Amino acid sequence: MQAVFGIDFGTTNSALSVYRNDQVEIVNIDELNAATSLMRSVLYFDEDNQIFTGHEAINHYVNEGAAGRFMQSIKTFLPNRSFESTEVFGKKYGIDDLIAIILRKIKAKGEARVGCPVDRVVLGRPVLFSEDPEKDALAQLRLESAARKAGFREIWFQLEPVAAALSFEGSLPAGAEKLVFIGDFGGGTSDFTVIRVKGGAFARSDRRSDVLSLGGVYTAGDKFDSQIMWDKIAKYFGRGVKYKGMGKEEVFDIPHSLIYTLCQWHRIPLLRARKTREQIRLIKHAATDKKAIENLEHLITDNYGFFLFQSIEKAKCELSQLDLTRVSFRERDLSISEEITKEEFKTINADNIARIAGCIDEVVARSGVRHGNIDTVFLTGGTSRIPFIRSLFVERFGSDKLENRDAFTSVVHGLGASVPLFV
Ligand SMILES: Nc1ncnc2c1ncn2[C@@H]1O[C@H](COP(=O)(O)OP(=O)(O)OP(=O)(O)O)[C@@H](O)[C@H]1O
Ligand SMILES: [Mg+2]
Repeated sequence: MQAVFGIDFGTTNSALSVYRNDQVEIVNIDELNAATSLMRSVLYFDEDNQIFTGHEAINHYVNEGAAGRFMQSIKTFLPNRSFESTEVFGKKYGIDDLIAIILRKIKAKGEARVGCPVDRVVLGRPVLFSEDPEKDALAQLRLESAARKAGFREIWFQLEPVAAALSFEGSLPAGAEKLVFIGDFGGGTSDFTVIRVKGGAFARSDRRSDVLSLGGVYTAGDKFDSQIMWDKIAKYFGRGVKYKGMGKEEVFDIPHSLIYTLCQWHRIPLLRARKTREQIRLIKHAATDKKAIENLEHLITDNYGFFLFQSIEKAKCELSQLDLTRVSFRERDLSISEEITKEEFKTINADNIARIAGCIDEVVARSGVRHGNIDTVFLTGGTSRIPFIRSLFVERFGSDKLENRDAFTSVVHGLGASVPLFV
């Protein structure tokens, strides 16, 4: 059988596996990245319309800054009907065109590795792109179209948590049978499945009957970053600011929608709209805290949302190890050094954690088995490193059952292992 690729196009990171000669191999796709098996799912267009992906894109963006156009979390827009296309330096790109650029790059890396063209691929997809079935179908169609534009002819989809399960299965001794709860906590989505796995039986047959239940929520790493922004950092950019209405004595709060948009980094570029900037300028003149609104203006004009969120994400990751850290950020005359504790991080995310916990309980309930019957809880994805995520499972299943490894490559490995199910 000729080689087939497995591609995990993630909200934050993408990865590639190759299936050939009954083996799955993970291929390095970004030499500039600290973890070379991962490529950041980002794009940078420079003013000459040269397009860069992964760490190269980040380097160009860091050096050239506002001159070009930087895009990230593109996967998040897949189910969004109102996002059809975007214009970059006079050229129109559909969302599938944008994703195709990333997939084409990954495809080329894989072909260089195997030494011949490969036009078959198993793509991962979350359990839910959207709660709305129509939007969910649209998201998958767009991803499929992106893969076609990237040059793939035969395209299959595998659910990301099922892929993680197959990867876990590969690590079991032959004959060992287990009932496993899989939790894949990424940047955009948290995906779950209860599934029966068996060591030694390399995914050869249809596995649908082994999947006892599935579920997912749109709450993962990006939401935790947004929450830190909302509770700890947004005050530097106008949250809480009041302003006097024109010619009136009445005092208004800064519009909620402005601060809300500011807290979702992939949406910050929307604040560049002329109308919004004019609105911010008017608020500034009548504001209780002019400096904060000036900071907001600088953030928009200098386009430094990405760097601000990098420092937030850094602090978040540090809290997976430490009890206390700081969000440190400097730009123009703004200097932020905001302390945040592990406890506080958990408290501000109470709603997000409850949403995830609710989904875990639903998936277990729908599987029809009791917690005690589940042999192993296998956690994967970058966000599974957060202690309060682990605690959710310790509380329900006990710490002995927890397995947490290959945070970033078990899904892509399982996509490769899925190949015999389709081909
Ligand atoms: N040590 C850590 N502690 C907490 N969060 C982390 C850590 N390392 C990475 N993350 C977070 O993990 C997320 C990325 O994980 P991953 O690469 O599994 O996501 P993805 O596959 O790109 O996303 P998705 O599966 O949702 O499409 C980011 O939100 C990142 O901030
Ligand atoms: Mg993922």
